[in-house]
Amino acid sequence: MRTQVAVIGAGPAGLLLSQLLHLQGIDSVILERRDRDYVEHRVRAGVLEHGTVETLREAGVGNRLDSEGLRHEGTELRFARAAHRIDFAELTGRTITVYGQQEVVKDLIAARLDAGGDLRFEVTAVALHDLDTDRPRVTFDHQGEPGALEADFVIGADGFHGVSRRQVPGLRVYERAYPFSWLGILSEAPPSSQELIYARHANGFALHSMRSPTVTRMYLQVPLSEDIAAWPDERIWSELHTRLATDDGFALTEGPLLDKGITPMRSFVATPMQHGRLLLAGDAAHIVPPTGAKGMNLAIADVRLLSHALAGYYTERREDLLADYTDFALKRVWRATHFSWWMTTMLHTDPHDDAFSEQLALAQLDYVTTSRAMSTSLAENYTGLPYERGWSYR
Ligand code: APR
Ligand code: PHB
Repeated sequence: MRTQVAVIGAGPAGLLLSQLLHLQGIDSVILERRDRDYVEHRVRAGVLEHGTVETLREAGVGNRLDSEGLRHEGTELRFARAAHRIDFAELTGRTITVYGQQEVVKDLIAARLDAGGDLRFEVTAVALHDLDTDRPRVTFDHQGEPGALEADFVIGADGFHGVSRRQVPGLRVYERAYPFSWLGILSEAPPSSQELIYARHANGFALHSMRSPTVTRMYLQVPLSEDIAAWPDERIWSELHTRLATDDGFALTEGPLLDKGITPMRSFVATPMQHGRLLLAGDAAHIVPPTGAKGMNLAIADVRLLSHALAGYYTERREDLLADYTDFALKRVWRATHFSWWMTTMLHTDPHDDAFSEQLALAQLDYVTTSRAMSTSLAENYTGLPYERGWSYR
């Protein structure tokens, strides 16, 4: 079997790349380990940057996103029992859209299959070969049969636990583990606020988010190796009420829980994001803590760069865009890594920190919610930085 681009992983990165390549007449095959139902229903991120929405529209998957996505013009920071709004639209002219990652994945899978795309689920034993030649190969098992795929390029879009990153010799890794996790719930309850609420409380961080006018998504900071069994529903609701409480009577609406899980928080950046004809994208190369809502947006930004670089290769035999991929991608990755670290430290209570750190975080929250310069900085990072190659902050 032969294709132009072999894509490992059907997350947002792999699916969107395959779709963008298809629109430019470039052929690809996607190999995914899980089944379709699993990837379409796994509850993950939910905030799309301004440019992410535009990219998905350009990819031809904007219809349901435009009708069901919730456009937000700002967000709320809550601390010391008071609410403070950051007005994205006024500060940056940009907005964000709340739309679940699994909805993006469903739309992309449907678009790939409608266009006759070759997308294989439940593929196991994926192994990469000859990456430093111009005829790389992927071997795998599918439906009980061994398979082999020859390509011009292999894209490692197989997430943090995938196999591709391990194929990059001399890989350098930068890492930070945070001493806490997030307990996330999905609840069949109308959101209690129009916008997201990021709250700092002495008991820890809490986030109020949503998926639709009838479904609320919320998170609580919990100890690093917390057992979900320690959190019966009543305890979750009680803690959410406590951490989100305000002096002007904020009321949190409860509802039956549809999903409940714990995720540890980490920052991870691997470089280079390429080796020979292998290029990494998304979580395969970097992870950010979810506090800045950057994970899926970074995956999509990587893929934009890759789609452009591969189109340059196929139309004009340009190698320079591919050669520059790591440098351009990492500029955004490190900005997002800093932003996510900054939001995380400002909003969480660290069990190892002292009273001094607590005061620093509160001073920073006061600054970011009252200074126009500082709130503009939050707003421009949150709504998303420009895409142009070599963009600057001027
Ligand atoms: N072979 C084939 N597929 C694999 C393999 C493998 N060896 N290992 C992993 N996969 C698949 C996973 O099952 C998953 O569907 O690769 C896919 C990777 O998708 P994601 O983890 O969603 O990663 P990515 O597309 O980069 O999207 C990043 O995911 O974790 C969130 O916050 C993150 O929103 C961000 C997004
Ligand atoms: C979510 O809705 O899942 C969500 C929103 C904002 C974040 C993280 C997760 O920062």
